[in-house]
Amino acid sequence: MPHNRAVFDWMDENLADVLPTDEIKSYLYVGWCRVTKEWWMTTLVSNLDIEKVGLLEVFKGNFDKFKAKNPGHVEATLGSIADFAKLYSKGQWDMVYWDHGPEHAESIEMLESVTETLKEYTKVILYACPWGSCPQKEMYGNSFEKHSVPIYEKHFLNMGMEVKTFGEVDTRAAGEIVAWWIKE
Ligand SMILES: C[S@@+](CC[C@H](N)C(=O)[O-])C[C@H]1O[C@@H](n2cnc3c(N)ncnc32)[C@H](O)[C@@H]1O
Repeated sequence: MPHNRAVFDWMDENLADVLPTDEIKSYLYVGWCRVTKEWWMTTLVSNLDIEKVGLLEVFKGNFDKFKAKNPGHVEATLGSIADFAKLYSKGQWDMVYWDHGPEHAESIEMLESVTETLKEYTKVILYACPWGSCPQKEMYGNSFEKHSVPIYEKHFLNMGMEVKTFGEVDTRAAGEIVAWWIKE
């Protein structure tokens, strides 16, 4: 699971300028496992001046662990981002951040379909994932940890997103893509 320091630093320094922060009062973070840094529900929330934060996690073991640790201010939901339209109403979350992430989608078509749904349901989409090939199998009994698709800039560009890359492509742990979309 890469997540190099440069990505967090860039987000800390630039996201408030890149995103329409005045319009983002609620945000949903997707995916939580035991090594996930609290940065997403502390620093990022305060940098973007967000009032309400939620978590969506599909694997019950991880969901239960998060619930046990939840400091109380995070609205947690058990489910898959593929079922976003069944889980949430339009406008419920101003921003959705799928962080490591899109590489777990079953296919590029599934990722495109999720993105299309999110465009209808939210104002801002933020994705972060390894840049290119980064194979990973099922872990700790969680089949959702498998990496199914290598993701390159062209995939997010085809979805109408802005893209920024970090490090090197196809190097497993050393490269990362951040992509974002803002409703006009
Ligand atoms: C590599 S971890 C990343 C966790 C966290 N976002 C981070 O960056 O530290 C991937 C997590 O996403 C969850 N996940 C995978 N596919 C998902 C989906 N379709 N919907 C919601 N969560 C999913 C997995 O169960 C796992 O907990």
